[in-house]
Amino acid sequence: MSHTALSQSRLFLRVVRLMLVVIWVPARAAAADGLVRFTGSPSCATSLCHGGAGELRSQTTTWQKLDIHSRTYNTLVNGRSAQIAAALKISDATTNGRCTSCHAPFAEVPKTAFTREPTKPSEGVSCESCHGPAEPWLRSHTRPDFSHRDRLQAGLRDLGHLYVRANSCVACHQTVAPELLAAGHPELLFELDGQAVAEPKHWREKGDWHGPKAWFVGQAVALREMSAQLSSQKNPGENLTGPWSATLWLLQQLDGLDAGLPALKAAASPAQSHPVADQLAQRVTELEWSAALTRQALQRVAGTHKEFSDPKISPSLQARRAERLVLALDRLTAPLDATSLAKLEPDLKGLFSLAQSRPDFKPAEFARALESLAKKL
Ligand code: HEC
Ligand code: HEC
Ligand code: HEC
Repeated sequence: MSHTALSQSRLFLRVVRLMLVVIWVPARAAAADGLVRFTGSPSCATSLCHGGAGELRSQTTTWQKLDIHSRTYNTLVNGRSAQIAAALKISDATTNGRCTSCHAPFAEVPKTAFTREPTKPSEGVSCESCHGPAEPWLRSHTRPDFSHRDRLQAGLRDLGHLYVRANSCVACHQTVAPELLAAGHPELLFELDGQAVAEPKHWREKGDWHGPKAWFVGQAVALREMSAQLSSQKNPGENLTGPWSATLWLLQQLDGLDAGLPALKAAASPAQSHPVADQLAQRVTELEWSAALTRQALQRVAGTHKEFSDPKISPSLQARRAERLVLALDRLTAPLDATSLAKLEPDLKGLFSLAQSRPDFKPAEFARALESLAKKL
């Protein structure tokens, strides 16, 4: 992989065009061709850099103490992993690529792909898993005469860019092989805004950060990944078709929210939704977001209450839709002021609890609660 931000995004387009599953685990992609090497996390963690005290230097401490990404390897030795591994006839989850690709990405990086001491797989998802291999930008990124732009040019991944960030996170957060699900691995559900808020921050979001915009980009990227995975399956089960269909439906409600966005209305198959979802994610990233757009999105999503009283739609699909819909409500209402939010709170609580259990889902009750919310918007 070449290491400029520009060619990274070109690579993306190429991958998308080839209709391959976009699994962007940079640790593997970069090391395989030997061009860009990792420096290992000790090179980030010195006290004068990112291993010190105070807000500007405490990234390593935050990651080590608070961020679950420093413990993703440990998960592979817990009881639940033992069960999953047994079901798959894997003798050791900590060294098997089917698990390490997300929980211990450095397990697959050969020693020669490090400039010095290799990062131990037990570090889990470490600095360079998200920020990219540091060799090309390690020196320049500390030079005061280099701008942020220069650093990005040198290969530091632009995680402030929503599309780039979504692509980085989704690589580990949306699609798992159906065999892993059958073996008991939890279903993954990517939601960029909620997950970016939930990850203990070692950074500050820029002033123009809009949670609902991040949510929108994240859902579009999630749809792209689900579409890609589905296209590659001969006989996909409901645990793959359900989430795809529900996410497609949800995003179709936002068709035309801005005239420049591509519409998903005509996308009837995974092969059709794949390229449109990718384009949508890129366009939303470029969109100048506003509180008015958040409000319109909220009204559109809440306006679907009639569809939940439609008996032609199966309750299991309704339950999947409801699951995605309440997450949308959660993120789209988050920026509201306290008074407006307090007014909606009882309805929101009711909707969340109604959507909690798929087997017990009652579409008609959900429809009533959603209508009540819609009237207050
Ligand atoms: C595509 C990336 C990916 C792969 C591959 C993957 N996992 Fe996970 N795994 C995750 C993510 C993300 C979560 C967190 C899910 C959540 O909390 O919603 C998770 C959660 C888990 C959990 C539940 C958390 C806990 O503490 O109990 C276990 C156990 C687990 N994974 C084990 C495994 C095992 C064993 C394998 C290999 C057979 C594996 N995973 C492969 C991404 C992955
Ligand atoms: C799970 C992914 C992930 C991991 C792991 C990770 N980071 Fe980050 N980091 C981010 C994101 C996302 C941002 C925000 C980027 C932006 O807004 O430009 C960020 C921002 C930063 C910033 C900029 C701080 C600021 O306020 O702008 C520094 C410095 C940084 N990370 C260092 C580290 C170091 C050192 C490690 C390892 C100890 C690390 N990161 C691990 C995702 C990650
Ligand atoms: C290389 C794989 C990888 C990447 C890249 C990655 N994660 Fe994770 N993340 C994981 C795994 C694995 C877990 C599950 C932790 C466990 O239980 O072992 C996890 C857990 C989490 C959790 C807690 C559980 C949940 O799903 O809510 C959050 C929040 C999270 N990640 C956010 C992010 C964000 C935001 C990004 C992008 C900036 C990101 N992750 C990038 C692998 C990754």
